[in-house]
Amino acid sequence: MFPKVLVCVVGARPNFMKMAPIIRQLQAVRHLIIPYLVHTGQHYDQAMKDTFFQQLGIPEPDKDLGVGSGSHAVQTANVMLRFEPVLDEVKPFAVLVVGDVNSTIACGLVAVKKNIPLIHVEAGLRSYDRQMPEEINRILTDQLSDLLFTTERAAADNLTREGIAEQRICFTGNVMIDTLLANCQQASSLAETLQRYGSKQVVSEKAYALLTLHRPSNVDDPETLERLVRVVGDISEKLPVIFPVHPRTQQKIAEAGLLQLLPQQRVIMLPPVAYLEMLGLMQAAQLVLTDSGGLQEETTALGVPCVTLRENTERPITITEGTNTIVGTDPAKIMQCVDDILHTGGKSGRVPEYWDGKAADRIVDEILRRYELAR
Ligand code: UD1
Repeated sequence: MFPKVLVCVVGARPNFMKMAPIIRQLQAVRHLIIPYLVHTGQHYDQAMKDTFFQQLGIPEPDKDLGVGSGSHAVQTANVMLRFEPVLDEVKPFAVLVVGDVNSTIACGLVAVKKNIPLIHVEAGLRSYDRQMPEEINRILTDQLSDLLFTTERAAADNLTREGIAEQRICFTGNVMIDTLLANCQQASSLAETLQRYGSKQVVSEKAYALLTLHRPSNVDDPETLERLVRVVGDISEKLPVIFPVHPRTQQKIAEAGLLQLLPQQRVIMLPPVAYLEMLGLMQAAQLVLTDSGGLQEETTALGVPCVTLRENTERPITITEGTNTIVGTDPAKIMQCVDDILHTGGKSGRVPEYWDGKAADRIVDEILRRYELAR
């Protein structure tokens, strides 16, 4: 029997950490499955894409669709138009997508319309907030999928409520944590990272807050953004804040003229940092302030307190078992949570089931079994 081709799709920064261990496991069964990696080009800057591929050992994509940025409709449509000919050429037995970005739903929709089975890794997460573009992408991708791999047990309940048959759901754990555990030892130190970006400020390990912000609900509305920037300024009076700034956020802070609200000596703004730098910054932080889904999970795995600047989370296990606290964007609540962490050390938490570095092994085993591609 000849090996069969599995098209694997990545598009944006958080996809890269999820796909890296899957590609590695697939390469170990190349006699059965040939991974064909497509990068849609949703994220394209050196700092948003290339450094991640290099650090995570992801091979160069077999195809780069080069779609770039755009409105949701433009971006999604461009991915679809450019992805369809790839499937015609490669004729895979299935398409595998990860996460919840626009590239995930765009490629999923193209695949199923061509009767190619869709596999979704990180299925079943729900914020129940349809204002979030990712929530729409999650719901629709899960409805389209033939095989759904989940990161936490509650995800299966969400899926069965939406009418998805239990046999299509498989709890395999968290591939992003596979990547985290594989790279912990190689993480860049705080000093290395600050030096690399020419930062002159002196910051000590376990004595700073790490901040990331990029959700449209937080950064696209100037009023919300100003409220958050002001509270970051207040927090920085208590402890320094390291803030790697997403391109979307950089643009919005500049447009709204908010830069002067962040005292330069206390808020260290960096460009988007590479994976090993971010991992090091998380490990050495006293606490993390974020609206990212990925960081909520990574801080839980690392045991670092996380303050989530959103009204909800699609990753409830980070609250029930992990170190995460949801505070929203009310400055008083944010300050109270930060103070609490500074005084008590914050939630200690434990690492959730199957966040053990072996999720990708389980996923590849299950794909071999389901599609009868014996080892
Ligand atoms: C996307 C995902 C989001 C994910 C985030 C991680 C969707 C709907 N959103 O949001 O789920 O959490 O990625 O970063 O898929 N830009 C650059 N360089 C790049 C990429 C983007 O400068 O390499 C700028 C562009 O101005 C662009 C803006 O960032 O318009 C936003 O990029 P986009 O891919 O639309 O969404 P993200 O906010 O990155």
